Amino acid sequence: MQKKLKVGLFFGGRSVEHEVSVITALQAYENLDKNKYEVIPVYVSKSGDFYTSNKFLELKKYKDIDSLILQASKVTFVKGGLQTLGFWPKFVSLDVAFPLFHGSFGEDGSFQGLLEIMQIPYVGFGVLGSAVSMDKVLSKLVFQALDLPIGKYVAIKRGQKIDSKDLKFPVIVKPATVGSSIGINKVDNPDDLEFYVEVAGTYSEKILIEEAFENCIEVNCSALGYEDVKVSVCEQPIASAAFLSFEDKYQKGSMKSMSRVIPAPISQRLTKEIQETTLKIFKALDGCGVARVDFFVDPKQERFWVNEVNSPPGSLAYYLWEKSGIKFPKLLDMLIEFGLKRSEDQKKTTYAFESGLLSQMSKKGLPAGRQGGLKS
Ligand SMILES: Nc1ncnc2c1ncn2[C@@H]1O[C@H](COP(=O)(O)OP(=O)(O)O)[C@@H](O)[C@H]1O
Ligand SMILES: [Mg+2]
Repeated sequence: MQKKLKVGLFFGGRSVEHEVSVITALQAYENLDKNKYEVIPVYVSKSGDFYTSNKFLELKKYKDIDSLILQASKVTFVKGGLQTLGFWPKFVSLDVAFPLFHGSFGEDGSFQGLLEIMQIPYVGFGVLGSAVSMDKVLSKLVFQALDLPIGKYVAIKRGQKIDSKDLKFPVIVKPATVGSSIGINKVDNPDDLEFYVEVAGTYSEKILIEEAFENCIEVNCSALGYEDVKVSVCEQPIASAAFLSFEDKYQKGSMKSMSRVIPAPISQRLTKEIQETTLKIFKALDGCGVARVDFFVDPKQERFWVNEVNSPPGSLAYYLWEKSGIKFPKLLDMLIEFGLKRSEDQKKTTYAFESGLLSQMSKKGLPAGRQGGLKS
């Protein structure tokens, strides 16, 4: 029998989207082929501690997280895998890490950086693509550089004076580096702006004030791949009020049953343009794995604007891939394969350079004076 691949599933995290990440991870676990993979679950607590225990794979156990943590082993990263903390540390090697975080310290490139340093292959976007996708201001700069249509906006830093005179109300105020609609509000009256900017600022250092798209529908499309990238069918998520809230996304039954129309009720031409745009964005961000790009569409005018990109998307967008002919277990196989392939490709880069510089200098001493400044 072929040896099983050791897959570390990482979820939870120091993020306001902690719970959403646990759901995405448990959905992924249910669909991972246990004949192929040995799964090592790693739960990251809200305070940022790492724990392993198979009990983290059972949704029922989350009723009492404190006792769940007490029964688990605390772990830390070492090169090539994890090590338990305590008197008799145990090394757990990982063939691949599967980050299933949403939000800060997991989706924003910082965790990916930790994996790079620990030399552990991983699934999903790399450091740079993750960081840019998580930051809605930087994402917009990339969309603009790609000549893609986006809405009017102003970005400010927490505490900075608000200059929104060029924007038409109503506006949408949102934290720039958070997802799941947390901290987002629609503001009709300019007098209320300061208050909602402060609300958004509790979740992120950067705040976006965007003109609200009205009489538009939302349309999402997913991209999947590494060198060879596919795009999915489009969906229309349905909001219950002015915008898609946290409740719309997660608290109306399962993510699968969130109100959505697949395929989105838009023309073939718009569908094609949205799919092409999704592909362009995925490639510009050195995409690897799966992402979902969200759009606003005015079906009457046959126009679209890019809103944001999510990597990984909630539930890994499996429901879009199922409708595009790829079942969830197969999607997970593909994601792992892409991550491993990228790691193989990275091995072609040399990270050592034998210059003899140190042995030379150890004889002569450190350069000093005007000649001493290095020009790295
Ligand atoms: N400029 C906008 N105009 C109208 N609705 C918006 C705008 N920006 C966001 N929304 C609404 O808020 C929701 C969440 O915003 P989004 O930018 O997608 O952030 P998140 O990362 O939280 O999903 C969107 O799905 C949409 O319903
Ligand atoms: Mg969104």
